[in-house]
Amino acid sequence: MTDESINKQIDSLRSLIEFYNIQYYQLNDSEISDSEYDKLFNELKTLEDLHPHLVSPQSPTQKVGSPPLDQFAKVNHKSPMLSLGNVFDNEQLEAWYSRISRLLDDDSFEMQCELKFDGLAVSIIYENGSLTTGSTRGNGIIGENITNNIKTLKNVPHNIKSSNNSLIDIRGEVYCPLDQFHSFNKQRELQGLQPYSNPRNTASGSLRQLDPEITAKRPLDIFIYGIGTTIGIHEYETHSETLDWLKSQGFNINEHRKIINSVVEIADYYAYWTEMRNSLNYDTDGIVIKVDSYQKQNVLGAVAREPRWAIAYKYPAKTEITKLIQIGINVGRTGSLNPFAELDPIAIGGVTVKNATLHNYEDIQKKDIRVNDFVYIRRSGDVIPQILGPVLEKRTGNEQVFTMPTECPSCNSQIYKYSDDVNYYCINSECPDQFENHLIHFVSKNCMDIRGLGEETIRSLINSKLLNTPADLYELTFDQIISLEGFKQLSTNNLISSIQESKQRPLYSLISALGIKFVGSEVSNLLSRNINNIFDLFEMNESKLTAFPGIGEKIALSICSYFSNDNNIYQITRFRDLGVNIYSNNTIENQSNILLGLTFVITGRLENHTRSEFESIINSNGGKITSNVSNVTNFLIAGADPGSKFTKAKELNVNIITEQELLEML
Ligand code: IVH
Repeated sequence: MTDESINKQIDSLRSLIEFYNIQYYQLNDSEISDSEYDKLFNELKTLEDLHPHLVSPQSPTQKVGSPPLDQFAKVNHKSPMLSLGNVFDNEQLEAWYSRISRLLDDDSFEMQCELKFDGLAVSIIYENGSLTTGSTRGNGIIGENITNNIKTLKNVPHNIKSSNNSLIDIRGEVYCPLDQFHSFNKQRELQGLQPYSNPRNTASGSLRQLDPEITAKRPLDIFIYGIGTTIGIHEYETHSETLDWLKSQGFNINEHRKIINSVVEIADYYAYWTEMRNSLNYDTDGIVIKVDSYQKQNVLGAVAREPRWAIAYKYPAKTEITKLIQIGINVGRTGSLNPFAELDPIAIGGVTVKNATLHNYEDIQKKDIRVNDFVYIRRSGDVIPQILGPVLEKRTGNEQVFTMPTECPSCNSQIYKYSDDVNYYCINSECPDQFENHLIHFVSKNCMDIRGLGEETIRSLINSKLLNTPADLYELTFDQIISLEGFKQLSTNNLISSIQESKQRPLYSLISALGIKFVGSEVSNLLSRNINNIFDLFEMNESKLTAFPGIGEKIALSICSYFSNDNNIYQITRFRDLGVNIYSNNTIENQSNILLGLTFVITGRLENHTRSEFESIINSNGGKITSNVSNVTNFLIAGADPGSKFTKAKELNVNIITEQELLEML
């Protein structure tokens, strides 16, 4: 295969994974199973491993966490907050160990085994001995400023012994102790409040409060597991000595860490804690193994988002048994009929599971899952609960084989099955459930971002027949909105201005919002960069589309079929007539000389604009953009997961700013 065709395959996998990431993380509406997703992800990882020169920081394999939220001030981390690579069995562990032994040219070095705490990663900065900044990991480079909330944790000293002009960045995991989690949740229920689903969400929700007084009342604690940048602080030679010192300074260091120097000892530590994890008063999801010597850590370095000198060995996913009471069908926004299981509620790993996806009819048949069956359920980390299969020994004869309905449960139209697709579809474009999910997608943050238009309001608008297509949103009147339950003068005016504001979104938001199958924000961005206005897409055939990197046959076909539908053409014409922006590059580039004489470099994944949009914004305001950081660089615009330019800019003391800060300069 040529580099070009491999690149194309890689781009196409990246676009598909981005598409499913958005479905899963933002829309809670996954069309594929976790194992299908893992297969795509591994396929991409393998291709990237085989062709490392084709790896890009934008790849989903290279990203850490989620972007910081707007409500909090941003903190640029002094050094990136990395993630950890994972192994799941002894064979993978041995492979990691022999790789690093080879790189170190040594097969007997000390490592520290630690528990992997399941909470929220934080960075705490002490300057001249005083706690000055506390932040979340965010995207690894920029986090959220939660200083006052961190200060409410009893195990975080506000001052440590330290000399003048010193700085230390301390890294740890904030968690919620299990006994306190249970009593806190009971209290919430008594007060009629929604209980938290698990200790990790409690920790995260409690720490990311705008009011520190709320955080102070929450049951939180912290384990410190390492340090980032230090200036003017006595440097120890090993990680374990540093933790000893931190302990002497009043930090909470977990007592179960252990120095070892062989894979066998790691396997023993892992086996012990897999058995004993339930005896702890905090959740752990595995162990972490770290090379102890800093000198050796430096030799090993990091690849993309993960250090080579540390690895997480994750515990096997927790499996439970419960009864499947009913099989329901959800109609997704693309019309796919998604079967799901209604379960006898069961707690797995601190979360009460009531529903689980059943993927598709074929999967139900293959696993022979029947209504009234007892089923094995598995949930690990963030993953949607999976039904592994029926517990055959528990069958009583009362189980019923499930068959797919012949009509859509939402609109009673006949349903269709295409030969090349496992899903069944309702193809009625007026199907209410499909439309509701489509609208939820249309107004979401990555699409038209219409704030104040929640799912309840969407439902009322549909029920009162005020919304029959997304374009109807732009014709809603004050009187119509205020007639909805719960709306007053102020909320009505706010919603009207959000709707009006959304007309000015960049073209890629509108393309994403249309809900074309396989067209998520990455592909929308790519398309909008290559057209003048949305009508150009009507002219593009399959071969023109597949010529773009990142667009494979499947995506191209989906785009072509969308733009050849008369009703879709009519709806897009209506958007235009109602004043919704259909042009690319129509924003912000007010010509000015405000950036005259300034040189910019861009690194990392940008959230709100494409790289070329930024280039044209900077150029049309008098600035210059170059590809490398040097002494003449005035600003580095850092997006998520930046590369070596970030480190270089730090070394050269170049101002590092976010996308938003550049826009504010304008
Ligand atoms: S060390 C460069 N040690 O796991 C290594 N992380 O998946 C950075 N975590 O972001 C992390 N327990 O939030 C380390 N003993 C431990 C940990 C730990 C939990 C979390 C941490 C990190 C995530 C990576």
